[in-house]
Amino acid sequence: MGDNKWSQLWLDYEAKKGAAKNAEEDKLRIDFEGFDPENRVIKSAVKELNKAFTDTDKKIVISFVRNDEIKKEGYSACGVIGGSDNRKVDADTTELVVSSSDENGALYGAFHIIRSKLMGEDLSCLCATKAPSNPLRMMNHWDNMDGSIERGYSGRSFFYENDDIVINERTVDYARLMASIGINGVVINNVNVKWAASDLITTRFFDKVKELSDIFGDYGIKLYLSLNFASPIEIGGLSICDPLDKEVIEWWKNKIKEVYEHLPELGGFLVKADSEGRPGPFTYGRTQADGANMLGDIIAPYGGIIIWRCFVYNCTQDWRDTKTDRARAGYDYFKGLDGEYHDNVILQIKNGPMDFQIREPISPLIGGLTRTNQMLEVQIAQEYTGHQIDLCYLIPMFKEILEFKTYCAEENDTVADVVSGRTMGNSLAGMAAVINTGNDYNWTGNDLAAANLYGFGRLAYDTDLDSEEIAREWVKLTFNLEKELEDKLVDMLLNSREIYEKYTSPLGIGWMVTPGDHYGPSVDGYEYSRWGTYHRADHLGLGVDRTDKGTGYAQQYYPENAQMYNDPKTCPENLLLFFHHIPYTWKLKSGQSLIQYIYDVHFEGYSKAQELLESWKSFEGKVPERTYNCVMHRFEMQVNNAHEWCDQVNSYFYRKSGIPDEKNRPIY
Ligand code: GCU
Repeated sequence: MGDNKWSQLWLDYEAKKGAAKNAEEDKLRIDFEGFDPENRVIKSAVKELNKAFTDTDKKIVISFVRNDEIKKEGYSACGVIGGSDNRKVDADTTELVVSSSDENGALYGAFHIIRSKLMGEDLSCLCATKAPSNPLRMMNHWDNMDGSIERGYSGRSFFYENDDIVINERTVDYARLMASIGINGVVINNVNVKWAASDLITTRFFDKVKELSDIFGDYGIKLYLSLNFASPIEIGGLSICDPLDKEVIEWWKNKIKEVYEHLPELGGFLVKADSEGRPGPFTYGRTQADGANMLGDIIAPYGGIIIWRCFVYNCTQDWRDTKTDRARAGYDYFKGLDGEYHDNVILQIKNGPMDFQIREPISPLIGGLTRTNQMLEVQIAQEYTGHQIDLCYLIPMFKEILEFKTYCAEENDTVADVVSGRTMGNSLAGMAAVINTGNDYNWTGNDLAAANLYGFGRLAYDTDLDSEEIAREWVKLTFNLEKELEDKLVDMLLNSREIYEKYTSPLGIGWMVTPGDHYGPSVDGYEYSRWGTYHRADHLGLGVDRTDKGTGYAQQYYPENAQMYNDPKTCPENLLLFFHHIPYTWKLKSGQSLIQYIYDVHFEGYSKAQELLESWKSFEGKVPERTYNCVMHRFEMQVNNAHEWCDQVNSYFYRKSGIPDEKNRPIY
């Protein structure tokens, strides 16, 4: 651990070495067939292997072989027992052949070998062939240039400080970590482009952004920037940013030309427009497609792409208005423009129609669009899911999202199919996560939240992996635990999302969080606000009627799903209150009434949070002390949080309904 200011997470070769610590690098030989050893990505792969294999006690040869049959960014990594003659490998040597058609594939193959080694697998038996499920596998930083992070729970930004870009060894470690899980794109600044961030596309910052882009490039990662749609006004001195105005278009042409002169490898731009006060085409009576296509056409000659976010809704709603429904907004604004977006434009859609709640239905826009490039946005920063204080392993949620059948096509109609490009045969597709990192020693505030960071990358590369497999990999790579504790930790991770759901907002209703901050309960916190996030509880029941008799949201799905959601009898119970206003006396499938369910599940969630804390005690002395203490402290906070949620939600609904708990537990 030493004096380092940051940990190595799942690439901690030192911690994994144990006794055989003496460096015997001469035992590792690396060969190349069809790859240039001087290529920067290949060099990174070699550097990493040399670092990871310093303790090897066997002779190992790793051969990088170019094989054009392997899919883009894919690889095969296989052990050849006894060595192969044609590559002149001795019989007492383990040979590992990494075949790929490109450098990124080679790098991912190298990391596969490293992973297998760290997990203690027999490398001579290794035989894996992989290709990425998603062409774009991105991290979105919501880092601001003053060093703060919007919805950041792990310290300050490691990219910025005092309106300047910071570049150091941590930047390189960040790129290594991201490449090791298959990430190939990083947006380095907040979608809310404020203050100095508007200057990221000016000479003020070009040199440093270029330096960052080069570091990323060494690890096969493209750098992207969030763009301020109002740049023509804010930095260009124009009075408007109308996307169809000649002068505005001319300004962007010159600007993007200048940007690419300085940043030739820039992947493109991410744009949050007409959203939560951000400027956009609506101001000028233009459509979202007008805005996105204007930028898309200008950036196309440089090979760049425009990632346009669909988080557009009315954030000045009157709570008295029960017809306007925020959940409908994405579909209402974007579906009608399906097919109008140009080829290098991709729409980035949040997984649910609201905003990263602990449980939401899938956005009907995903798959609802059938002629538009689209990618999925999830959030591993735990904004509504416990701020990286409470344990909430999100990969099971992401798996549910990916497996959801949209009915948008005869076959290949799941969310995973749509966002990977399989449904429409498009290559501009993929997954992005709002990242959960900061400059804390452990990167993610809670050491256990790194499972989401690791897991998102692994899942985006291979959507067939299951949640448990990913959790187990992460546990094995991060800690040195006996099997029993390893199983225990995996179980804690796998159960954590449902535990969090149990003590917070029930059956898909969401919200009920402290306004602004979004941690802890405040049942009516958003009930009379402008944000469109209501639970509509009264003395008889709660939930939002989104059926054909209510806001009509359920009708935005294809008929099979629309019918299922429209009827409270067929609506999945865990989303019941998202789609229906239900009386407290309503009988759930278990036979419990809704109100009794609310009481039971909250007491249960609170007690399960206490169990998590108790379980963690068995890790004392088995994980680094620093980790033990940090996580323990967070479990203590989680238990307090769960206690508050439980008592406040139960008391609130007891007071509204007047119906007592059958089991007579304390409710206030
Ligand atoms: C949420 C979040 C904001 C963020 C926004 C977005 O509303 O609270 O901080 O800016 O999502 O995704 O753009």
